[in-house]
Amino acid sequence: MSARRGVTILGSTGSIGCNTVELVEASPDLYRVEALVANSRVDILADQARRLKARLAVVADETAYPALKDALAGTGIEVAAGAAAVADAADLPADWVMASIVGAAGLAPTLRAIRRGATVGLANKEVLVCAGQLMMAEVKTHGATLLPVDSEHSAIFQVLDVKQHDQVEKIILTASGGPFRGKTREFMSSVTPEQAVAHPNWSMGAKISVDSASMFNKGLELIEAYHLFNMPEEKIDIVVHPQSVIHSLVAYTDGSVLAQLGSPDMRTPIAYALGWPNRIPAPVPRLDLASIGTLKFEAPDQTLFPSLRLAREALRAGGSVAAVLNAANEVSVAAFLARKIGFLDIARVVERTIEGVNHRELLSIDDVLAQDQVARRFAESVIGRL
Ligand SMILES: NC(=O)c1ccc[n+]([C@@H]2O[C@H](COP(=O)([O-])OP(=O)(O)OC[C@H]3O[C@@H](n4cnc5c(N)ncnc54)[C@H](OP(=O)(O)O)[C@@H]3O)[C@@H](O)[C@H]2O)c1
Repeated sequence: MSARRGVTILGSTGSIGCNTVELVEASPDLYRVEALVANSRVDILADQARRLKARLAVVADETAYPALKDALAGTGIEVAAGAAAVADAADLPADWVMASIVGAAGLAPTLRAIRRGATVGLANKEVLVCAGQLMMAEVKTHGATLLPVDSEHSAIFQVLDVKQHDQVEKIILTASGGPFRGKTREFMSSVTPEQAVAHPNWSMGAKISVDSASMFNKGLELIEAYHLFNMPEEKIDIVVHPQSVIHSLVAYTDGSVLAQLGSPDMRTPIAYALGWPNRIPAPVPRLDLASIGTLKFEAPDQTLFPSLRLAREALRAGGSVAAVLNAANEVSVAAFLARKIGFLDIARVVERTIEGVNHRELLSIDDVLAQDQVARRFAESVIGRL
């Protein structure tokens, strides 16, 4: 029997993390677990660590350390806490690392995994939005492998022939349109966090669910695709496809359009990244095209969703604009979930923050983290003045 592949899961207690744990747990002969990392949900983390016999369990929130230590006492599983411990966890010799922390908090640990040349399954799209150029350069320098986990980017990765990169006419990202597709701005002005996180097709964490409702998620994915596939912004289209059956498409110069299809279940793209370059079984509902009958598509409503324009402008502007957009969006989504601002305020705060901060070139990850903090403080002040 060949040696088992070492796996680390950054953000193991989240929606992507739990799905990854499920797939890893289903194949104990293929995988052994090095580290599991969360923010503060000790109960889930400790349970996962015991079940998977992890070597190390880490919480970012230091106040959760005593509870984690107690929960894993006598198991032989090492425990640690704090942001530095989270980044250190990515250094353990895991061949494969799932980057599924939410937001810019995932930047430092993902970079550490990249710098030791690991294969990284990237769900944490904010990493590329904040620091795409720097991250892609690090991947190249250290011979790391970046495998997209976002369903759209996984789809493109599966149908984009890199040898024909110059013969690609367009990448077409599909978007479900979220829970407010077809609604009015008047309707959206009074929606609650509960309405915003109730996604019609996907079960996801709170932040990405709100991002899907505002379509900032598609804006972030546009920026992610630009970096991952080295594709100019004008060659990346977005089409609304409410059923989320086609996960994205690549159009070639000869008129061929290649797509990847599947049930809207994140275990498929996670399994693709985990098994790559092979395929592993995933217990997902199989597609039944005859019962689906018709696939629907429509153009996105740019007026209803200014997020798409803001993301395109950020790409065209370059420099720190995308990192600022991301930070302001993270702050606004948290404020919306805490009922401090309305849903439409999210895009307002992002746009005012992009307009208000001094932009700069981002020459290092430290530059990115510093600009992230500047943008967060500015966005908080915008929120305070709303
Ligand atoms: N969910 C999806 O279907 C989906 C699809 C495509 C892409 N993504 C992307 O994948 C990422 C994760 O999404 P999700 O929906 O799985 O989010 P989620 O359910 O909110 O989970 C977030 C995970 O990150 C951990 N975390 C948060 N802050 C942290 C910190 N400072 N240090 C260490 N860990 C931290 C959380 O720990 P606690 O549980 O302790 O808080 C949790 O494990 C996001 O970037 C999202 O855009 C998600």
